[in-house]
Amino acid sequence: MTASFDIAKIRRDFPVLGEKIRGKDLVYFDNGATTQKPLTVIYALQRYYARENANIHRGVHFLSQQATFAYERSRGRVGQFINARESSEIVFVRGTTEALNLVAHSYGRPQLGPDDEIIVSQLEHHSNIVPWQMLCEEKGARLRVVPISDTGEFLFDEYERLLSERTRIVAVAHASNALGTILPVKEITALAHQHGAIVVVDGAQGVPHLPVDVQDLDCDFYAFSGHKLFGPTGIGVLYGKQALLHAMPPYEGGGSMIEKVSFDGTTYAPPPTRFEAGTPHIAGVTGLETAIDYVNSVGKEQIAAYEADLLAYADAALSEIPGLRLIGTARERVAVISFTLGDIHPHDIGTVLDAEGIAVRAGHHCAQPTMQFYQVPATVRASLAFYNTRAEIDALVAALHKVNKVFGG
Ligand code: ALA
Repeated sequence: MTASFDIAKIRRDFPVLGEKIRGKDLVYFDNGATTQKPLTVIYALQRYYARENANIHRGVHFLSQQATFAYERSRGRVGQFINARESSEIVFVRGTTEALNLVAHSYGRPQLGPDDEIIVSQLEHHSNIVPWQMLCEEKGARLRVVPISDTGEFLFDEYERLLSERTRIVAVAHASNALGTILPVKEITALAHQHGAIVVVDGAQGVPHLPVDVQDLDCDFYAFSGHKLFGPTGIGVLYGKQALLHAMPPYEGGGSMIEKVSFDGTTYAPPPTRFEAGTPHIAGVTGLETAIDYVNSVGKEQIAAYEADLLAYADAALSEIPGLRLIGTARERVAVISFTLGDIHPHDIGTVLDAEGIAVRAGHHCAQPTMQFYQVPATVRASLAFYNTRAEIDALVAALHKVNKVFGG
């Protein structure tokens, strides 16, 4: 960790972290679901609505031009953040789910035919399963699933065996939301390309924890959500390689996405505008840019190092708790810890933790196939961020001892 990583200052930047919940200091370990927002993001939203609000790409008036300029500047900033070649490779969407559905609809539909195959992994979130299932059903194509090991590792050899000339799309998470496993996306991509398939990465849990360079990964599409990156809800990003976006038909029709409309026919604007029908979440884009500036100011490498330390501490501390079973212990993980405790239902554990002011997610984490693999209906998930501390892990450990006492473990 570098000296510049000032955890006390970072925590002061996130006002909600100072809240009392049920009379206790809030311990927020539900970052996989959504992250908290720094004051800079909160103020950016306030400033936008208080002083700058106008629609973009539509007005000759000052505020509209200013909003348009700011919106397009944000697109550039997002592009730099993940090292896209061009800002036009950045499409603003509502979130990861919309981004993945957009690719399934606008890339998958025209490309896929009967007996073609799409490969996903056992670790996927429902948003990186269901759109592909729907597409396969429509097209008579097949979904193939890369299995995982007992520790939750992506089985690369099995992946290699599933690839064939029928594979058209490989869709994988950068990191599993339920277990934290980091997938070898660069290697997955290189192999898919050798077979002529394109690669779609669900980066919802990758971007908040790992430095992301889409040119280095060489993936074809990369999707992520603003609200899991300390930005607002309702704004997300689809990165797509320029040539692919250019060849794709629109996802939705409406204002902004057109070149010319007449009753004889309509021509479409080039990407990214082609995929941004209607008035977008302008304030959200401002908030996302501000969140990215904040993350950059803390440092992506510093965040990854701090979280790796916190995760190692948490793994060791939790392993000491009688009856606790860690679910997913892959060598490379982002700071996500999933576990069960004896046969106590995860919802009961979550409820006791909540009484202690500790926020976790208890459930299937929208990753039911992952739960099915471990033959559990649900887990408790503590998903960390760079504003969490070892003291908060200690609080979780103490609370879990209490859970054991309450339920007679
Ligand atoms: N996908 C989010 C999670 O993992 C909501 O909790």
